[in-house]
Amino acid sequence: MRVLGIESSCDETGVALYDSRSGALVHALHSQVELHRAYGGVVPELASRDHVQRLLPLINEVLQRSGCQRRDIDAIAVTAGPGLAGALLVGCGVAAGLGFALGKPVVPVHHLEGHLLSPLLADPAPAFPFVSLLVSGGHTQLLQVISPGQYVLLGETLDDAAGEAFDKTAQMLGLGYPGGPEVSQLAMVGAPGTLRLPRPMIDSATLDMSFSGLKTAVLTAVQRIDPANASARADIARAFVDAVVDVLTAKAVQALARTGLKQLVVAGGVGANVQLRAGLDQAVTARGGRVYYPPPQLCTDNGAMIAYAGYVRLARDGAGATRSGAHPLRVHPRWDLCDLAAG
Ligand code: KG4
Ligand code: ZN
Repeated sequence: MRVLGIESSCDETGVALYDSRSGALVHALHSQVELHRAYGGVVPELASRDHVQRLLPLINEVLQRSGCQRRDIDAIAVTAGPGLAGALLVGCGVAAGLGFALGKPVVPVHHLEGHLLSPLLADPAPAFPFVSLLVSGGHTQLLQVISPGQYVLLGETLDDAAGEAFDKTAQMLGLGYPGGPEVSQLAMVGAPGTLRLPRPMIDSATLDMSFSGLKTAVLTAVQRIDPANASARADIARAFVDAVVDVLTAKAVQALARTGLKQLVVAGGVGANVQLRAGLDQAVTARGGRVYYPPPQLCTDNGAMIAYAGYVRLARDGAGATRSGAHPLRVHPRWDLCDLAAG
């Protein structure tokens, strides 16, 4: 089965063609980072307009590179939420139109389910069941993944997402957007232990997390230093990264202990962070477990994870996975992953 995947929930236009028989995957991506950089964050209307311009050329590019025609597509998977309503509507509009024209099913995909299943595209891939740490710009969740579609929320951030904390810390340190990779790089030249920032909720009995207090602590630390002092800024970045890594690692280890599972799957943009990977690998392997990541280019938003999640849904639910004819353009800007049946 060949599934075309379309992702347009935020600031990346992603398209992919996944062939379930051969495992072949061709994907193409356009990042809007340059478009939004001047504003320090995503401007929804600009994002939607850019998706409109990019999507059809990217679909043509993917088909050409995979040596396929439109008629070779067996199904179309599209991100239906969560995300920016206008941006989601662009992808869903194109998917609905293409599905109608080709007479092929359209499968609405939950963006986080795409992230969650993306490590299954790596080699080696984890086997169900596993614990998933989803760390993106909008979400920070620990989930018990029993099988595709069966997700139990173990804990989540009560305020800011980890990615959001990275982005805000970058802003406070005068770094660019998106902040995660820049803070991570600056932290590498910072001295460990010069400054110690709080690790909110690290010892709490639950698997919930909180990052807004850490953000305030960064602000206080930034206000105390001379902005021209590069090494002091690097020390703050280092202290911030160390605190985030400690909290995420402690909670992930607790989640494995509570569920009795050994496999941890990390997904979402912050999962690309090298310090987090090192911390998780060390802590989980020391306890006899193993950590799995998506292929590096599939950590942040992309069409491949949507094509794959759509395929998994079709394989599991058949025609039941497809969009009902009554609401071909229904998008879900807010959509609870543990509530997928409501989609
Ligand atoms: O999953 P993603 O691409 O988009 C969402 O669905 O949110 O995640 C984007 C987030 C941003 O907050 C970005 O700063 C963060 O992931 N990020 C990183 C790194 N690469 C991306 N955070 C820390 N270290 C990185 N290397
Ligand atoms: Zn994402």
